[in-house]
Amino acid sequence: MPSSSPTFLLQSPGTEAEFSAYFDLRWRILRQPWQQPRGSEQDELESSSFHLTAVCDQQVVGVERLHSPSPKTGQVRYMAVSPQFSRRGIASQILMALETQASSQGLQELRLNARETALGFCRHHLLG
Ligand SMILES: CC(C)(COP(=O)(O)OP(=O)(O)OC[C@H]1O[C@@H](n2cnc3c(N)ncnc32)[C@H](O)[C@@H]1OP(=O)(O)O)[C@@H](O)C(=O)NCCC(=O)NCCS
Repeated sequence: MPSSSPTFLLQSPGTEAEFSAYFDLRWRILRQPWQQPRGSEQDELESSSFHLTAVCDQQVVGVERLHSPSPKTGQVRYMAVSPQFSRRGIASQILMALETQASSQGLQELRLNARETALGFCRHHLLG
């Protein structure tokens, strides 16, 4: 069982195996519960996006993606955390790192596509 403060690393996937683990978590959290096929967790923007994972004990436990739909705007999508690791600050840590990345790319506005299941998370970040 994870401790209340798991040690995790934030890292961008680089190898084929790392991308595979990254897309697998996306699929398991965001697509499998709705019987969506493998592959549906990816879109045409993957190669031009910035990807970040949280890795704990060599397992990908959290993922998010940043892409830029217009020159000054960033958009965060595919935010997912393994249920065993929820409410440990993992999505928040990844989001903060994506904010830093967006800023370094000169983006001035960051959008987050949210499902109803993420409203509590969004309220926390918007309202503090
Ligand atoms: C939404 C999700 C990414 C949040 O990840 P997480 O790592 O658990 O989030 P954090 O621990 O960083 O949460 C930070 C704060 O957001 C709020 N929050 C997070 N999940 C919440 C929930 N289910 N209900 C209410 N508030 C929530 C809390 O205020 C929390 O702080 P606290 O735990 O100290 O109270 C994760 O629950 C998930 O993957 N859900 C299923 C997939 C999904 O809905 N993805 C979003 C698509 S837009």
